[in-house]
Amino acid sequence: MQEPRRQQLSSQQDTPLFDLVFQRISKSPDLSINFSEYMEMALYHEDHGYYSRGETRMVGRGGDFYTSVSVGETFGFLLARRVLIEWQTRFDGSEPIVIIEQGAHDGRLARDIMSGVREVAPHLLGRIEYRIVEPRFRLREVLQEQLAGEVSAQSIRVVDSLDQAKAPQGVFLCNELLDAFPVRLLTFQSGRWQEKCVGRNEAGDGFEWVCRPLPGEFLSLVEELGNDFPEEYVTELCPAVDDWMEEAGRLFENGLWWIIDYGYEREDYYLPQRRTGTLRCYREHRAGEDPLVLPGRQDITAHVDFTRVERAAERAGLTRCRFTDQHHFLIEAAKPWLLSLEGGQPDSLTAKRLRQFQTLTHPSLMGQLFKVMELSRGL
Ligand SMILES: C[S@@+](CC[C@H](N)C(=O)[O-])C[C@H]1O[C@@H](n2cnc3c(N)ncnc32)[C@H](O)[C@@H]1O
Repeated sequence: MQEPRRQQLSSQQDTPLFDLVFQRISKSPDLSINFSEYMEMALYHEDHGYYSRGETRMVGRGGDFYTSVSVGETFGFLLARRVLIEWQTRFDGSEPIVIIEQGAHDGRLARDIMSGVREVAPHLLGRIEYRIVEPRFRLREVLQEQLAGEVSAQSIRVVDSLDQAKAPQGVFLCNELLDAFPVRLLTFQSGRWQEKCVGRNEAGDGFEWVCRPLPGEFLSLVEELGNDFPEEYVTELCPAVDDWMEEAGRLFENGLWWIIDYGYEREDYYLPQRRTGTLRCYREHRAGEDPLVLPGRQDITAHVDFTRVERAAERAGLTRCRFTDQHHFLIEAAKPWLLSLEGGQPDSLTAKRLRQFQTLTHPSLMGQLFKVMELSRGL
C-alpha cells in the first residue's frame, strides 16, 4: 500500500532541488528552515533555481505568467518617453544620463526602451547609456546572447552589481523585481505571532509547515500590527528590501527611482481580512497556493509592502515623490503621444500600441494592480 502514495508524491516533489532542500532541513538544529531560505533555494539555487537555470521562457504566453514587459513593446516605448521628459525637465539636460535596470530577465524592456528613444529622440541616443544589473553569471551570459547584434542594444551594458552601475545622474527602474525577493512568513496562532517555517514531514518524503517562536528582529513589525487578527492568519515580510534599498539608493547623486510592482502600503498589506497573505505560485498561467511542491519548477512571489520600501528609501536619503498606480503613471507618460494621434487614422503599429496601452492601463487588467513608487535625490 506504500508504493502508490510515494509515486503520487514523487510526481509533485521529485525535482532536483527537492533532495537539496531536504538535506538542508535535516542538517539544521531544529529540523526546519525559514521560508526565505526555502524560497531563495527554489528561485535562485545556482543550478536548479527557477530563475537561475538560465531559461527565459517563463515570462509571457508560452511560460508561467505575464508581466507588463511581455504585453509588448508599448511599456518600454512609454517609459522611454517618460525618461526623455524627465531628463529635459528635472535633470541637467546638458549632461548625459544613465538608465539602470535590475531584474531585467531577458533584456526585453531594455531593448524596448532604447528603441523608444531611437524613435522619439534619435539625436539623444549617443548621450544615454543603459546598464542592466545582473549578479548571476549564467544569467549575464543569457542576457549578452539576447542582446548581441541588436541595433537597439548598442548602448546597453550588463554589469554584475549595483555598485558597478553607479552614475552621477540617471533613472533606476525595476519591474517586478521586489515581488521575487525571498520573504519570511508570519502567522497568528493561539493568540500570538509566530514564524511559519519549513520542516520535513513524518514519513520523511515531503515538506510540512512548522511554527517557530517569533525572532526578535520582527518584534517592531508585530508591535506596529497589534494582535487584532484572526486565528491562523498568515502574512509575509521581506527584510531583504532594506539592504537592497540602501544599496540601490547610492546609485546616483541626482536621480529618480521607479519601483514598479504589485503591492500595497502597510495598512492595506496587513489587513486582518487578508487571511492567507499574498504569497502565490505560478505555473503555466495557473495560480497555486502551495510553494512547498515542485521547488524550482514554479514561480513563487509575494506582493510588495511599499511602506517598507519607502522607509528604507528615507533611511537611504531618498525622497518619495509619489506612489501611484500604473494606470496614472503611464497615462501621464502617454499624453503627448495620444495627443499627437488625435484626428488621424491609426496605422497598424499605432493600433497595436493602443491595444497594448489598454491592457497596461485598464483598471481591471494591469492598470490598478501594478503600483509605481517614485523616489528621488538631488532633483
Ligand atoms: C518576475 S521576474 C520579472 C522579469 C522582468 N522584469 C519583467 O517584468 O518581465 C523577476 C526577475 O527578477 C530577477 N531578480 C531577482 N533578484 C534579483 C537580483 N538581486 N538582481 C537582479 N535580478 C534579480 C529574477 O532573476 C527575474 O528575472
